[in-house]
Amino acid sequence: MAKKLFSKPTILITRPISDSGLNLIRHNYKLILNTTGRPLDRIALKRKVRNVDAILCFLNDKIDKEIMDLAGPNLKIISTFSTGYEHIDILEAKKRDIKVGYTGSILTETTADLGFGLLLSIGRRIIEGDKLVRNGKWKYGWSPDLMIGTDIHGKTIGIIGMGKIGSAIAKRALGFDMNILYTSRGSIPNLLDNKKIPLSETMKYVDLNRIAKESDYVVVCCSLNKDSYHLINRRFIFQMKKSAFLINIARGKIINQKDLISALTEKRIAGAALDVYEDEPIQNNDPLIKMKNVVLLPHIGSATVDTRNRMAEIAASNIINVLEGKYRKAVLVE
Ligand code: DGY
Repeated sequence: MAKKLFSKPTILITRPISDSGLNLIRHNYKLILNTTGRPLDRIALKRKVRNVDAILCFLNDKIDKEIMDLAGPNLKIISTFSTGYEHIDILEAKKRDIKVGYTGSILTETTADLGFGLLLSIGRRIIEGDKLVRNGKWKYGWSPDLMIGTDIHGKTIGIIGMGKIGSAIAKRALGFDMNILYTSRGSIPNLLDNKKIPLSETMKYVDLNRIAKESDYVVVCCSLNKDSYHLINRRFIFQMKKSAFLINIARGKIINQKDLISALTEKRIAGAALDVYEDEPIQNNDPLIKMKNVVLLPHIGSATVDTRNRMAEIAASNIINVLEGKYRKAVLVE
């Protein structure tokens, strides 16, 4: 019997991805696919990662030195189905010349859509209104004092982190005639060169204190790093207007959640709308769950059919391109 000379490279896929991505790798690679519908726990991840050539992972998978050791010398790429890659030890991967792929900016507009949805929901009490109707508590038809909210148009939005998602939020805010304050790491970003965003008198680069003091809606859009960890804390929140709202579509750890809970309990701000939390999922007994002045979503910023399909394609293509040595075609962490 002829000896099989070449075996197919193996890819560990830690959770199912849509066919748009799976079909790209189904035939030419050996797939180890977790189909349990749950993230792999650490023990299962350690067992399944042995000797693989590539890992297609998600935000819940901590890919550290131990996992890279267990994968062994065949591992050439860790491709995350996300734009954030804080769950991967990038330095360790670099040391071993393991490439790290991510989904780049494909989810920018989708995440900004959701961010604006949160802003509208908390300002205009949309979720509260829905609950009131469903719970049979809508008693008298139109009422002059029912579910009074806060305007969006004419108000000031403070955008923390004017990167791609921040800019996409700004575009939407301009459409709603909002005044825009923004802050960004380092120098003023190239925002005004972006032809999609009109140069506008209503858009001002300011420091964090001004964002806190002057905004009616603060939207957190920056990435999580050592400088942004707990950037929004008691000090920031206590400077906010009592009528203001805090919205987070970036990462939970940018906000000190304990400080936020105290501020909401003491009514120091009007409310918060969150898609992300310090620990996910939040527990059923988390104080946020019982609060009326919050809107809580389960980290779904990028969760649309089109965007998740594109993310699957990019995550799979990153693996193919790296395994085939076409590094330039892959979306890689530098
Ligand atoms: C990301 O990709 O980083 C998002 O938070 C999940 O879609």
